[in-house]
Amino acid sequence: MKEIKKIACIGAGYVGGPTMSVIAQKNPHLTVTVVDLNQMRIDAWNSSDLDKLPIYEPGLSSVVSEARGRNLFFSTDVEKAIDEADMIFISVNTPTKTYGKGKGQAADLKYIELCARQIAKIAKTDKIIVEKSTLPVRTAESLKGILDNTGNGVNFDILSNPEFLAEGTAIADLHQPDRVLIGGENSEAIESLVNIYESWVPRERILTTNLWSSELSKLVANAFLAQRVSSINAISELCEQTGANIDEVARAIGQDSRIGSKFLKASVGFGGSCFQKDILNLVYIARSYNLNVVADYWEQVITLNDHQKSRFAENIIQTMYNTVNGKKIAFLGWAFKKDTNDTRESAAIYVADYLLDEEANVVVYDPKVSAEQIYKDLDYLGSRTSEENRRLVKVVDNYFEAINGAHAVAVLTEWDEFKQLDWKNIKLNMQLPAFIFDGRNVLEHLDLAELGFLYKGIGKQ
Ligand code: UDX
Ligand code: ADP
Repeated sequence: MKEIKKIACIGAGYVGGPTMSVIAQKNPHLTVTVVDLNQMRIDAWNSSDLDKLPIYEPGLSSVVSEARGRNLFFSTDVEKAIDEADMIFISVNTPTKTYGKGKGQAADLKYIELCARQIAKIAKTDKIIVEKSTLPVRTAESLKGILDNTGNGVNFDILSNPEFLAEGTAIADLHQPDRVLIGGENSEAIESLVNIYESWVPRERILTTNLWSSELSKLVANAFLAQRVSSINAISELCEQTGANIDEVARAIGQDSRIGSKFLKASVGFGGSCFQKDILNLVYIARSYNLNVVADYWEQVITLNDHQKSRFAENIIQTMYNTVNGKKIAFLGWAFKKDTNDTRESAAIYVADYLLDEEANVVVYDPKVSAEQIYKDLDYLGSRTSEENRRLVKVVDNYFEAINGAHAVAVLTEWDEFKQLDWKNIKLNMQLPAFIFDGRNVLEHLDLAELGFLYKGIGKQ
């Protein structure tokens, strides 16, 4: 078995950063260098003020402070890190293609290919290459093609080691994973990686498979999780019509041990960098093999999710007497879930866009997301000019400013602090009737109707 002393990770994002921090924390004998082209990101990872790390993730700063400078390093010197490493993790982003064949569905692999070419150019010793990014099935094959045909004649072993951490609980998930999955062809290379995880993960939780099973399992795990959310969200609409209560239904079905209770929380719709992208990928792969029934089946998970987001926005407009023009609507939360500053594919973006088309004035408060990010998310949609977005949307740094004088409050992210707000006092400062649209069902325990609010949650009348 090849002894690993130095690890490089290309990509210091939401996956690479936390994963490498924990690998370094648990393997003090290894040197782990995380590299990224983005100088600002690397500077933030190196910041002496741990509140300035580029990613907000509970527990991350203490892991970084334990390992950074000891055996964990962040750098923009990609070439040096590749040259020195025995094992290289590729953890760059693989967004959905925005051009050409597969536009809007297939994964854009240009960043992966660039990495492969760079590794091939620089490597002078044998290396184990580990795919950490979520990739379409059989990407390893393309990677191998590039590495073997453009390299300096050194040997590359390719492993697939998809990451299952969820944002907001990344450190807990990394410390105690349900399983670690390693796919590969060469058992020695696999053992080298197993060894690294065995420093803290029980051996029976480390699964080894062939490359294709590993790559596909990651897409399928995310598709199944997203499917559960879309399934419960589909039923939430039915509940609203029939008088059933979605939380009661979720509890009743979740008690069936075959179904299980997790991932049955009805919401304004799932977001995040993975679910939509991975399902689109699955759909694209299925279509490319002419499996149209399979492709259509999974595509519905996304159709339903889009429907849930627009339904939420339409409901706001309809309830507020069919017009939100000029009305102040306070958004509590912008991140795609609590305990992260990540906003990729967040439902809030699409709900805001819908309301802005109706000329609403949206005021956003999120405890961890910057104004710059919020405007970037809206500008990226291209629905209106960036000046228009700035005219219609205000971003504030406390909830009171957001809610003060508002016609309605919309809860888009389930941040814990929203449950503790002084709603009695808030109502005195809102326009009447005071509406609350709870896209996360986090406020219902407060009996807001008793305080005089017109309260609407998801999946209940
Ligand atoms: C997901 C997978 O959980 C993780 O294993 C994978 O590595 C990456 O993708 P993540 O996107 O970080 O993780 O968060 P997750 O907790 O899965 O939530 C995704 C979205 O679904 C969020 O917008 C969340 O609010 C929503 N959701 C989740 C619901 O609306 N209801 C639920 O019951 C669960
Ligand atoms: P994820 O959620 O998958 O971690 P992110 O977008 O947060 O995705 O992180 C991916 C990181 O990879 C970004 O910081 C980006 O700058 C970096 N990256 C992309 N391509 C390269 C490359 N060729 N070399 C180094 N870093 C790269």
